[in-house]
Amino acid sequence: MEFQGALEMSSPINGDDVIKRGLWSSRFMFILAAAGSAIGLGNIWRFPYLVGQYGGGAFVIAYLVCILLVGVPILVAEIMIGRESRKNPVGAFRRLSGGRPQWVLVGFLGVASGFVILSYYSVVAGWTLDYFTKSVSGVYMEADVETIGGLFGGLVTDPVQQLVWHTAFMGAVIAIVIFGVRQGLERWIGVLMRLLFILLLLLVIYGLVSGDAAAGLRYLFVPDWPKLYTNEAGEFTAMPMLAAMGQAFFTMSLGMGAMITYGSYLSDDESVPGAAIMVAALDTIIALLAGIAIYTILFKYNLDPAQGPGLVFKVLPLAFAQMPFGRLIGIAFFLLLSFAALTSAISLLEVVVAHFIDDRKWRRRTATLTLGGVIWGLGIFSALSYSQLEGVTLLRDAEGQGMPILDSVDRIANNYMLPIGGLFIALFAGWFMKREKVKRQLLEGGGP
Ligand code: TRP
Repeated sequence: MEFQGALEMSSPINGDDVIKRGLWSSRFMFILAAAGSAIGLGNIWRFPYLVGQYGGGAFVIAYLVCILLVGVPILVAEIMIGRESRKNPVGAFRRLSGGRPQWVLVGFLGVASGFVILSYYSVVAGWTLDYFTKSVSGVYMEADVETIGGLFGGLVTDPVQQLVWHTAFMGAVIAIVIFGVRQGLERWIGVLMRLLFILLLLLVIYGLVSGDAAAGLRYLFVPDWPKLYTNEAGEFTAMPMLAAMGQAFFTMSLGMGAMITYGSYLSDDESVPGAAIMVAALDTIIALLAGIAIYTILFKYNLDPAQGPGLVFKVLPLAFAQMPFGRLIGIAFFLLLSFAALTSAISLLEVVVAHFIDDRKWRRRTATLTLGGVIWGLGIFSALSYSQLEGVTLLRDAEGQGMPILDSVDRIANNYMLPIGGLFIALFAGWFMKREKVKRQLLEGGGP
């Protein structure tokens, strides 16, 4: 993190902590780091496939409503709690609630969510690493739709490849969190994010021009409302709405205290609502661009929108295989996506590690290696969920079919753990925190 000297900063309440911990050097650095956490697989892998599973435009609108009405306020609440306490989530609740165990528990729920999410996030990030090498070797160039679809199936059903990539990705995350080379990394976030944005724009233009623009845009933006509350059989289901809410939490890194941790380094001179709106806008734009690129191409090839977690990996290579400079663009795209996943994964591990360092006095190295190791171990179950552990299911989908481990873990974390955590964070900021503190936090730095 790029911090500025303590001299710049004097907090009336927690001055000592601020001096020890450092601060973001500017609001821009905070927004970059927060956007680095928010923008990741959630925008480019998860959002598009959920849209396809839950019926298109109605889901997109439900998701946008959740971002605006729930996501932005909870982001404000998290940053505020972080800046007021200058602590990791567990320490923050302990400090601000005067040590009440029920609130400290909310902090623990966040740490637990971090464990669960990172365990499978690393597996999916491993897929992007693999697709980077696939792009370099050019296996999908000039291949047909079936071959490209088959590549994904081949990858996730191969236990060795799954474990190798999962291990490589977790290894990188652990190394970065131990050695704190983040200062270097964070300097890159701005550049790489811009590049990712430009590549997505290119893909959107390609999709609109040479894909089926009309079908793609209609699918994404024209709502078919009943899809939001009924399943295939026409019975009522809350799942699409729950998924829209879960995705709003996941994509903005909310509900587990990642943004509490980041807010704890934000200077008192900055506006919290202003920063929150900026992060939400950047994150949402990236997700919508990914959606447009994928669906205009998908409909050109008449593929099924509801094909689940493999969607991005089956659709985008079709474009790379056809477009001018496709191989180069594919290489750059999967590299940048891996990097975006890395900066998100760092924020997940950092929350877990910060708690063990701050509150349990572990050394950074010990904490990172131990906790990262446990998360890696948990991730093995997700890594093998389409091969060795195929047929082992935890939850059922809307049609009553058993869902693989990775899909189940993803749903438990995002549809339940994060929104529950978010609910308590909102209750804490809205009811429990002292009114004057909340007011001061909201108005400092010039207000919204
Ligand atoms: N928001 C990230 C993404 O969209 C994932 C992520 C990082 C996250 N940190 C988080 C999700 C904390 C929930 C909580 O890829």
